[in-house]
Amino acid sequence: MPPHTVRHLDEMLPWNDKLQMLECIAAVEEAPDVMTFSFRTPDQNWFRYAPGQFVTLELPVSPEPAMRTYTLSSTPSRPYSLAVTVKAQQGSVGTRWMLDHLRPGMRIRAYGPAGDFSLASHPDGKYLFISAGSGITPMMSMTRWLHDCAPATDIAFINCARRPDEIIFHDELRLLAARMAALKLSFIAEQSSPRHAWSGLHGRIDRTRLELLAPDFNDRTVFCCGPEPFMRAVREALQAMGFDMARYHQESFQPAAETVVTPTSPAGDDPGAMPQTATVRFTRSGVEVECGLDDTILLAARSAGLKIPSACEFGVCGTCKVLCGGGETVMNHNGGIRDDEIGEGYILACCTRPVGPVEIDI
Ligand code: FES
Repeated sequence: MPPHTVRHLDEMLPWNDKLQMLECIAAVEEAPDVMTFSFRTPDQNWFRYAPGQFVTLELPVSPEPAMRTYTLSSTPSRPYSLAVTVKAQQGSVGTRWMLDHLRPGMRIRAYGPAGDFSLASHPDGKYLFISAGSGITPMMSMTRWLHDCAPATDIAFINCARRPDEIIFHDELRLLAARMAALKLSFIAEQSSPRHAWSGLHGRIDRTRLELLAPDFNDRTVFCCGPEPFMRAVREALQAMGFDMARYHQESFQPAAETVVTPTSPAGDDPGAMPQTATVRFTRSGVEVECGLDDTILLAARSAGLKIPSACEFGVCGTCKVLCGGGETVMNHNGGIRDDEIGEGYILACCTRPVGPVEIDI
């Protein structure tokens, strides 16, 4: 379809949560080693997602494709395209490939969207969005959404960066704040930058700075995203000040300390009687493999020479969702699958183990 064809939403099909091809339509530099990539679909679908959700991209790096999960920085209130804003950390392979090679006109595969780190899941009238580095992306998605759909919303927006020139979306946030009377921006930089005059706060987030920048934090629902040490500092400061942590939400693509254990089918009563291996049959491929009870379905598939797409491999991104056609399994996930999907028989292959013979629909 020619890029300038104008179609209306009611003439277009929505993007769904199955495998999709995305076409890059823009690559924009935001800060050092940070770029925003915007996409549409070749058939011009519209994008249905909640602000703050993520997608998993299949990046064609060598020797084999890498799956990487990125929070969307775009807002579903502008549904003709979506965007991720990515930062290449030292040693990065997938994100570095995007920065160096992904350009308008190229196509990549995407899975999603998924995740419940969204004001759609935790609605309120007052928010504290607190982020560090590229953790600003879900906050940007939610702030853009509120600008478009509820511009009077009260938002205390705090972003922490190593240096002032590394603050992502700085100029756009200032424009948004000029149009949203109750959006209060605060930036904290750890170090000075020789090229930027800096009148904001210096240092790292702590209880004193939090109280200074959001004195009414107790009235707000908190969304926090950034490296784990940063999120830990925020959690500890809030806890020390008596904040109700049921109103604290964070996004992390690292394993959580606790997982949700979901029996996806009844297990046997007598563990002593259970065999130490189980047969996993991949029905569409016609392949059968014997695996240990400690092995995941993902590992069993790999040992059988089959590929199930995966990214995080600890049950958060949902990329490895497959249909279990029968048998006994136990799933230890971290929120990457919905209850209704479990009810329909889906499992996350990376965190599901067989208890007995199992059939998987791949
Ligand atoms: S690979 Fe992310 S949930 Fe399985």
